Amino acid sequence: MSSVNEPLVLGIETSCDETGVGIVRGHTLLADAVASSVDEHARFGGVVPEVASRAHLEAMVPTIERACETAGIRLHDVDAIAVTNGPGLAGALLVGVAAAKALALGLGKPIYGVNHLASHVAVDQLEHGPLPEPCIAMLVSGGHSSLLRVTDVTGQDGGVDPMGQTIDDAAGEAFDKVARLLGLPFPGGPHIDRAAREGDTVAIDFPRGLTSRRDLERHRFDFSFSGLKTAVARWVEAKERAGEPVPVNDVAASFQEAVCDVLVRKALDAAASEGIEDLLIGGGVAANSRLRHLAEERASKLGIRVRVPRPGLCTDNGAMVAALGAEMVARGRTPSSLDLPADSSLPVTEVLAV
Ligand code: KG4
Ligand code: ZN
Repeated sequence: MSSVNEPLVLGIETSCDETGVGIVRGHTLLADAVASSVDEHARFGGVVPEVASRAHLEAMVPTIERACETAGIRLHDVDAIAVTNGPGLAGALLVGVAAAKALALGLGKPIYGVNHLASHVAVDQLEHGPLPEPCIAMLVSGGHSSLLRVTDVTGQDGGVDPMGQTIDDAAGEAFDKVARLLGLPFPGGPHIDRAAREGDTVAIDFPRGLTSRRDLERHRFDFSFSGLKTAVARWVEAKERAGEPVPVNDVAASFQEAVCDVLVRKALDAAASEGIEDLLIGGGVAANSRLRHLAEERASKLGIRVRVPRPGLCTDNGAMVAALGAEMVARGRTPSSLDLPADSSLPVTEVLAV
């Protein structure tokens, strides 16, 4: 239930190829308008930064209007504006930050520049209620793969602490690259997910990156997916050279199993090592059906609870930014200054811009 005493926050997300505008009241989602430029990038097999920036510029005002209409509010009603100020594509971030500043200035409302990664964590409150803190958050998307220890999602007193991250490709990037090898469209994650349902997870024994005893000494909570991607490429090439058909569903299932196995293993190891009983999974790859299933299955045996937002809230959106903004207001954090910068390589520890 939402109460009028809870903060009404509009959030803007433009770090990659989705122009997202979300409106929340406290933990209640009122609108989640997303305009994606993904189709414009598809023929390049990846997001083209300049194309994304221009698309954000064109989509911004209509998306704000659509969100207000869905939420049944006027812009003047909002208590604060929140915006992703990093990490992400520099030009794309600038469009969102400029729009948020214009709104904050024009409406005379406070602005909160917030971290994209912490927003992926905060969004779960819209679906499952107050975040369990501390929790382990595993964020897996096209741009990031990290394990975080979250004691305060607003970042107060080192509240978001990185335990590990990818040392090469992000998990979603691996999905996208392998999909391309298999002739599946971009972005590849959902297509691999679908193909894998018809395939055999143990058909091919693909490598599990950074899981050998030696690697675990230095990289216990880090990920690596580039070796796996190369192994898939070699395997597919060998088949093609031999003039044999590539069993797309089996490759998809075996590849997906290798990614999910490592992700879940490391996330649960992180939780166990910290004595933490709540694991939250977010980011685009958290929409993966096998990842959700495997995490649930293995975590329940260890008495660890798993929270995963519904797929539409896992991929980039404005509601997640509004959710974190509302949390900033609720916890009395000091708003950012109107000259807050967009920072493409913003560290995860910097949750709120000063
Ligand atoms: O969080 P997101 O929307 O954008 C980034 O911040 O990157 O994540 C997009 C990524 C893409 O790499 C896409 O292939 C992947 O999430 N993805 C999936 C699935 N749905 C989206 N990966 C695996 N399985 C899925 N069902
Ligand atoms: Zn993201």
